[in-house]
Amino acid sequence: MTGPGGAAGPGGTAGQGTTAQQGGTGQVGWTNAPLPPRSVVCVGAGTMGAGMALAFALGGSAATMVARRQATLDTAWRRIEQSVGLMTAAGRLRDADTDAVLGRITATTDLDDAELTADLVIEMVAEDVAAKRELYRVIEPLLGPGTILATCTSSLPLAELAAGLARPGQFIGYHWFNPPELVDLVEIVPAKQTAATVTDLVMAFTLAIGKQPVRVAADVPGFIANRLQYALIREAYSLVETGVCTPAEVDLVVTTGLGPRWTVIGPFLSVDLAGLDVHQAVVQQLFPRLSTAADVPPLLAALRADGALGVKGGHGVLGSYDDDQTRAIAERRARVLLGLDSLRGLA
Ligand SMILES: NC(=O)c1ccc[n+]([C@@H]2O[C@H](COP(=O)([O-])OP(=O)(O)OC[C@H]3O[C@@H](n4cnc5c(N)ncnc54)[C@H](O)[C@@H]3O)[C@@H](O)[C@H]2O)c1
Repeated sequence: MTGPGGAAGPGGTAGQGTTAQQGGTGQVGWTNAPLPPRSVVCVGAGTMGAGMALAFALGGSAATMVARRQATLDTAWRRIEQSVGLMTAAGRLRDADTDAVLGRITATTDLDDAELTADLVIEMVAEDVAAKRELYRVIEPLLGPGTILATCTSSLPLAELAAGLARPGQFIGYHWFNPPELVDLVEIVPAKQTAATVTDLVMAFTLAIGKQPVRVAADVPGFIANRLQYALIREAYSLVETGVCTPAEVDLVVTTGLGPRWTVIGPFLSVDLAGLDVHQAVVQQLFPRLSTAADVPPLLAALRADGALGVKGGHGVLGSYDDDQTRAIAERRARVLLGLDSLRGLA
C-alpha cells in the first residue's frame, strides 16, 4: 500500500476508538455514543472514492482506497491533496492536523492488500448492476464477519444488487454527494433484507464523522435527493428546448435564486412561508404545465451522439472546458461550500 505521493502509509492503522460489537456470528450493533468506524475501505477511487476516503480520514477512520489502476490512485491523491489545501486555507483544517489526516489514508491496486475485514467496505465502482455484483462475488468471501458492505449507487435497485449476496443482512445503500468531503448529506438506504442493527450502525458512523445522515424508508430508484434533482433537471431541459431560456440562464436562476435560498430553507418551509393558499393556487396553475417527459431529452441525446461527456471529455451542455477551467470550477465550488458550512452555524 502507498500513502500520498507514493510514501509508505500506515496500512490499516486503527482510527479512533472502538465502534461495534463484532463477533463470529456476523452480528453487528453499537452500544455507546456514535464513533467513527475504525477502518473503511473504498473500492473504486474515481470521483466519489477519493472524497469519501478523505471524509472518513477527517472523521478519524483509517481509510483505504482500492482501484484497478495506479493512474486512478494518482489522480485520487491529487484530488485529496487539493481538497486538503483548500480546507486548510479556509480554516476548516489546521495545518498541524494535515499530516495526521493524510496519514490515515492508504491506497492499493491489490484487493488482497486492502484489509477487507474493515468495519465498513464501500463499493463505488461504475453505475452498472453486473459490474457491482461481480465485485461483490469476489469481495464478499474476504469480508470480516461483522463487516458492513455498502454501495454508493445513485440509482440502482438495492434488491437487485443484493440478490447474489450470502449475507444480504449486512448490505446497505450509502448514497453520498459530490464532493463527498464537503457535502454534509448522506442518504442511508436499507434494502428489504438489511438488518436494523446495520442501518443503526451506519447512521451512527455517519453522524460520528460529522455528516448529516437521512434514512430513506423505501428502496426507490434515485432515493430522495436525486429524484428531486432530476425532476428539476427534466423541467430545465424542457424550458431550454421550448426556447424559454438558455442552459446558462437555468444555471444562473438556480445559483442566484433557488440554490442560495434552499441552503437555509427547504422547499416545504418555503411553501409554509409563502402561504399555503398562494402555494395551492400556483400548484393548480403549474402542475398541469410541467414536463412529464420520459425520454432522454433531445438536447442531451444530440450532445451524446456527438460524443460529449461533460467536463471529463472537455465538452458539455454549457460548451467547452479546458483543464484550467475545470480546476477553477472545482475550487470555486469547494470554497463556496466551505464558506456555507461556516455560515450554517449562524443560521
Ligand atoms: N459522481 C457522482 O457525483 C456520484 C454521486 C453519488 C453517487 N455516485 C455513485 O458512485 C459510484 C461511483 O461513481 P463515480 O462517479 O465515482 O465513478 P467513476 O467512474 O469516477 O469511478 C469509478 C471507479 O471505479 C473503478 N472501478 C470499476 N470497477 C472496479 C473494480 N471492479 N474494482 C475497483 N475499481 C473499479 C473505475 O475504474 C473508476 O476509477 C456509482 O455507483 C455512482 O452512481 C456518484
